[in-house]
Amino acid sequence: MFTVKTDLDLTRAHEVLVIGLFEKSKKVEGLAEKLDSVLEGQITELLKDGDISAKIKSLTKIHTLGKLSTKRIYFVGLGKEDKLTFEILRDTYGKLFKTLKAAKFEEVAIAMDSFVTETIDFNESAHALGEALPLATYTFADYKQKSNTPEKEINTVIVYSNGDSEEIEAGLTVGYAHAKGVNSARTLVNLPGNMLTATDMANYATELAEKYQFELEILEKEEMEKLGMGALLAVNKGSVEPPKMIVLKYQGRESWDDVIGLVGKGITFDTGGYSIKPKDGIVGMKSDMGGAAAVLGAMEVIGELKPEQNVVAVIPSTDNMISGDAFKPDDVITAMSGKTIEILNTDAEGRLALADGVTYAKHHGASYLVDVATLTGGVIVALGNDITGAMTNNEELFEQVLEASNETGEAIWRLPINDKHKERVRKSKVADLNNSPGRDGHAIFAGTFIGEFAEDTPWVHLDIAGTATTSSDYDLGPSGATGVMVRTLATLVERFKSEK
Ligand code: BES
Ligand code: ZN
Ligand code: ZN
Repeated sequence: MFTVKTDLDLTRAHEVLVIGLFEKSKKVEGLAEKLDSVLEGQITELLKDGDISAKIKSLTKIHTLGKLSTKRIYFVGLGKEDKLTFEILRDTYGKLFKTLKAAKFEEVAIAMDSFVTETIDFNESAHALGEALPLATYTFADYKQKSNTPEKEINTVIVYSNGDSEEIEAGLTVGYAHAKGVNSARTLVNLPGNMLTATDMANYATELAEKYQFELEILEKEEMEKLGMGALLAVNKGSVEPPKMIVLKYQGRESWDDVIGLVGKGITFDTGGYSIKPKDGIVGMKSDMGGAAAVLGAMEVIGELKPEQNVVAVIPSTDNMISGDAFKPDDVITAMSGKTIEILNTDAEGRLALADGVTYAKHHGASYLVDVATLTGGVIVALGNDITGAMTNNEELFEQVLEASNETGEAIWRLPINDKHKERVRKSKVADLNNSPGRDGHAIFAGTFIGEFAEDTPWVHLDIAGTATTSSDYDLGPSGATGVMVRTLATLVERFKSEK
């Protein structure tokens, strides 16, 4: 995909050459300067006349009219140099690649020295580019007879620079790996429920394990029964699809300690069960395995980049269906931890699946826990569609997750847990816990419930119900699944510092 070269080769014919421009620069600099002289100062002229814009995210195409073997140049506006941030640069690359893909280019040459600033070095600019390309050009292959599969994709990017090639290659590799993980997660979420059952998800995890030599364990229903996973099994009761508890282990350290447990909600379709969802609310519930997808996407990144960390990924997976066998309100079930749960709402199924997922992650030695789940409509009301809700029982671990989120630009915001919330979750005449204490602040109750299973293990909960999908296109992707939290989880693992 990427080739890094140190000198702009103007004799070579590229399909398209890309140059970045900052506002106020009256002349082109660096490698582009060479180009300007070949074009007899025409670029400087066009800039002066305002025919090429340096405004942020603006794209201007010029034709070289036979003066150069490369036929066209795209100028990318980068705005004011001191205002450019990593995130804006990545968005801008995204918009560029979307445009170039739509124009059916397969090969792109880019003068990277025009995309660096005082604060964004070659490594970071390359990271932004490597990440933006797969993210922005992602499409989900649909099932129409006349398919949307693009005729042409960008398959070669030549990065020219006068910077350090190793730094650039490292940045491209990390960015690209992160984006590939995101795209895999997007595809899993976009797959309809009939095409991604718990069995399909287990098969996908098996392929991932084979590719990256992860240790793999897939628990079948009988094994879950033996282990007493009554919470996940309750959710599965109404289904004809067998449940799966999927476990992937990555050992990047000598001994199996300081293990980071990533637990993802893997409900492949959520009807709500007997507490059935209304007809409008049920559409889109194929995305209820967004947490599982985030964890699998992060594992792919981890498999590619091989950080020196230990990670156990746990995915409790089933659909939530209705039948004569289904679990129902008033049922009392026993989770793997031994805690009993009074079911008040079968639509609050994610926390049940996660309860056993969290317990099983601890069983596998997790010393830190991060769970990710499309858990509540409440979090959408509270934080909208751009911010993931977070909760925790441990300040230090939360701080590390927050830093990872700041680095990736996947915003999180913390919701509280206090003793009143715990009281409400523990209030039941017949069991240790209830699964639905009420509508008031119910995103918090859902997190609090999962905290009852994390117990003293440092734990962060991420509710991605609002952020896992989006209804509109954006610079770094199309509408549909976003693959949110893949990069934050992967970055957390890459940067992780044990507290011991
Ligand atoms: N999967 C849903 C949450 C959800 C809602 C995800 C909208 C994405 C978009 C979850 O299982 C659920 O139904 N939660 C209930 C909880 C309630 C019964 C306490 C909800 O949010 O209404
Ligand atoms: Zn539900
Ligand atoms: Zn759900």
